[in-house]
Amino acid sequence: MPWELPATEVTPESVFRDRRNIVKALGLGAIGASIPGHVQAGLFDLFGEKREAFVTSNLNYRSNPEFQLPESLTPLDKVTRHNNFYEFGTGKQDPFENSQGLKVNPWMLKVEGEVERPLTLDYDILLKLLPLEERHYRLRCVEAWSMVIPWVGFPLAALLAKAGVKSSATHVAFETLFDPEQMPGQRNRLMGGGIHYPYVEGLRLDEAMNQLSFLSVGLYGKTLPPQNGAPVRLVVPWKYGFKSIKSIVKIRLLDKQPPTSWNQLAPHEYGFYANVNPRVDHPRWSQATERRIAEGGIFSAKRIPTQMFNGYGEQVAHLYRDLDLRKYY
Ligand code: MTE
Repeated sequence: MPWELPATEVTPESVFRDRRNIVKALGLGAIGASIPGHVQAGLFDLFGEKREAFVTSNLNYRSNPEFQLPESLTPLDKVTRHNNFYEFGTGKQDPFENSQGLKVNPWMLKVEGEVERPLTLDYDILLKLLPLEERHYRLRCVEAWSMVIPWVGFPLAALLAKAGVKSSATHVAFETLFDPEQMPGQRNRLMGGGIHYPYVEGLRLDEAMNQLSFLSVGLYGKTLPPQNGAPVRLVVPWKYGFKSIKSIVKIRLLDKQPPTSWNQLAPHEYGFYANVNPRVDHPRWSQATERRIAEGGIFSAKRIPTQMFNGYGEQVAHLYRDLDLRKYY
């Protein structure tokens, strides 16, 4: 029982009223990722939690040398404890704290719309259909923090090739799981940040086919934890993080541009394109620099200049040659 643990001696009693603070006080947040799942589950049981902590498993993949970066990787505990996943709350630790019970198996990912062969992939097929590779990508959030994350997954284009994209398709729409029972932010408008769920995103077809567009099923060599978008999420590293939609259940090929969640919520602040661009500020803050999250807290994170297209201009600048990026933000 928690009051028998030595941490009580050094922690004010008030802190113990809240399970989330108990986990933090004991430092379980920091060590949780490095201990076996069944032990984690045991630790959560200590606090009378009915659900168990999520268990990730090892993946087989090759490291892709084309996608290495000169910068250091963001430590695992930051990647998995500082998240945006409004279905589980708007606080940075809410996704970790509220998502551990998410059921990812069984899962069903559908690829449909303007395709020759619609696909329905269950959890096992999803992990086996295509060879897995590891890529180190920068993730630049529109809120001006950033990380470097070692994702494991496969190119989006490889999955779309399996489905056979029809010549009528111009765009790709993505949809996150809608399950208010599992996702408290979908039950409570305030907790969910006002977003109209399910969370939806989209890309132009040429963006989706770009070699950088990636579907991630893992990070740091293991299957994704729920807070990072298990079992499968998009990663488009030259765009602000909100384009990288999590826990996807539907990929639909369309002949028109689909609506996107943040654009629907605040169209003057968030466009369809959302390319990382240090010269086009957010209406309420500058996008010229970012805090690169490393060891220590967010406010000790180093401020660095933001790069055009998040440093991926060589691969993607040609996609926007004829586009006014101020107008199409
Ligand atoms: N996907 C869904 N379904 N819901 C969300 O709230 N947040 C986005 C994106 N994908 C979000 C989402 C935002 S704003 C960012 S910055 C990234 O996820 C964060 O990814 P991370 O938590 O793995 O770092």
